[in-house]
Amino acid sequence: MDKLQRTNLYKQAEEWVLEAGQRIREKIDDPRTIQTKSNANDLVTEMDQQTEQFFAEKIRKQYPDHFVFGEEGFGDDITSLDGTIWIIDPIDGTMNFVHQKRNFAISVGVYVDGVGEIGLIYNVMEDTIYTAVRGEGAYKNHHRLAQLPKEKQLNQSIFALNTTWMLPENPYISHKGVHDFVKTIRSTRTYGSAALEFAFVAEGIIDGYLTMTLMPWDIAAGVVILKEVGGVVTTADGQDIDMLHQTTVLACHPELHNEVIENFVDLKQ
Ligand code: IPD
Ligand code: CA
Ligand code: CA
Repeated sequence: MDKLQRTNLYKQAEEWVLEAGQRIREKIDDPRTIQTKSNANDLVTEMDQQTEQFFAEKIRKQYPDHFVFGEEGFGDDITSLDGTIWIIDPIDGTMNFVHQKRNFAISVGVYVDGVGEIGLIYNVMEDTIYTAVRGEGAYKNHHRLAQLPKEKQLNQSIFALNTTWMLPENPYISHKGVHDFVKTIRSTRTYGSAALEFAFVAEGIIDGYLTMTLMPWDIAAGVVILKEVGGVVTTADGQDIDMLHQTTVLACHPELHNEVIENFVDLKQ
């Protein structure tokens, strides 16, 4: 994909993301149909489904050779990263959407043969959009985000962390390591939207995000955006991210990456 094609695709993606956000805002106070998926706290609403359908219909009509990889099942059955794939989380932070009517995002990443080319994260109620086209920097509301600062110390860092990973019975990571980590860093935050947590690391208002069970649609856009400001994204133990399956994630300032993995991440499996 050449630069012009990338730019045009980005413009189209942004137009659809803003339109989808506008539709959500207009219906934010409507009665909700709330269902659960993998467990009682894994929520989905008619709005998650309608929003993914909105993208799937638009993409199929305008780009019939592109693929859609979405959370709610209206996309294609994706088993490889070949071709142009729109990786979509129609509402990231559904629990926030249901309980708070804010603090959720639309997340859209466009990948070509496995390479993240375009990322868009739209904080719908705040009307704030984080965007990036590979190699062209990252933007918040079309203002360029600064590169992450050269130096950063762990004891002066804030990390987004889901407190669930501190429970001893969590099946993923040694809670001793997480305890030591929390005692070492300056503080933690939990926003409830992986996409926004990525965007905040890119913006430099938090310094990292460590988590255990994300899906490609949670991170596809965030990876593109964060890389553009010099951030690093790997699995929690430093491997390349697999954009097809569930994954652990460490997304952070490059100065902190090795230190976190070497001293605090002790995965159980
Ligand atoms: C969830 C949010 C949440 C993260 C979960 C995700 P959803 O996405 O990103 O912050 O902790 O792992 O599943 O279900 O609201 O799209
Ligand atoms: Ca999500
Ligand atoms: Ca979702």
